[in-house]
Amino acid sequence: MGWGGLRMSAEVLATRGLWKTYDPGGPFEVEVLTDVNLSVKRGEFVLLSGPSGCGKTTLLNLLGGLDEPTRGEVLLEGVRISGLSQGRLSRVRSRSIGFIFQHFNLLPSLTVRENVELPMVYAGVPRGDRGRRVGDLLGRFDLSGLGDRLPSRLSGGQMQRVAAVRALANDPLVVLADEPTSNLDEESSEMLLGMLSEMNREDGKTVVLASNYPEPAGRYAGRHLVFRLGGLEELGEESASSEEE
Ligand SMILES: Nc1ncnc2c1ncn2[C@@H]1O[C@H](COP(=O)(O)OP(=O)(O)O)[C@@H](O)[C@H]1O
Ligand SMILES: [Mg+2]
Repeated sequence: MGWGGLRMSAEVLATRGLWKTYDPGGPFEVEVLTDVNLSVKRGEFVLLSGPSGCGKTTLLNLLGGLDEPTRGEVLLEGVRISGLSQGRLSRVRSRSIGFIFQHFNLLPSLTVRENVELPMVYAGVPRGDRGRRVGDLLGRFDLSGLGDRLPSRLSGGQMQRVAAVRALANDPLVVLADEPTSNLDEESSEMLLGMLSEMNREDGKTVVLASNYPEPAGRYAGRHLVFRLGGLEELGEESASSEEE
């Protein structure tokens, strides 16, 4: 966006002096994020961990432009997204960000195929291209056989794999995953994390995943940040996603 070639920054997502206070000045004021400064490079797989209520969802929502900071800014490829008009923000979101939620958030009245297609409808992708891309994505992640099913006829693991495929629909720069495995059994969790890892390694997607626990996602992430007192602290870097092939 704006910077061609050489100036294209390796930093894909960043926050500068980010604060989030809910109900500021009101009776239910909660100061959740206090001066968070984060820098995520293209192609990283970052784990954000911390106990329930520490602000993981709040931060992911700010990173993905689903919510507005109280103070400070969020930069996507060096461009400030906090403060954009709703229209521009939703365009940026739909093109550049893929979300995976804790409770899957598939639309119950749409089939798997239609759920995966929906972000492309919003992004104005022509019908033929949409169909092709949905077919490719479902095939690639072994979900073709589920294309005509409604979400109510899927297991939790299947629902979350469909949600992960949906996050890729518009070929985003960044995939934000908010506790994507907290409602899955062990086997489904590993499958889902394997998918995210593949998106990261093979498609170069930058992945930011929030979790209550450092495991199992910690084994897939190349970098681990922990919430401490409203800020973020870096843990020793591991090698998982930065491993050369
Ligand atoms: N919309 C909201 N209004 C008021 N308080 C909120 C809101 N969303 C979250 N909170 C509070 O902010 C804190 C952080 O919440 P959250 O970001 O959901 O944490 P986590 O995802 O780490 O569990 C919690 O104390 C929560 O109660
Ligand atoms: Mg949360």
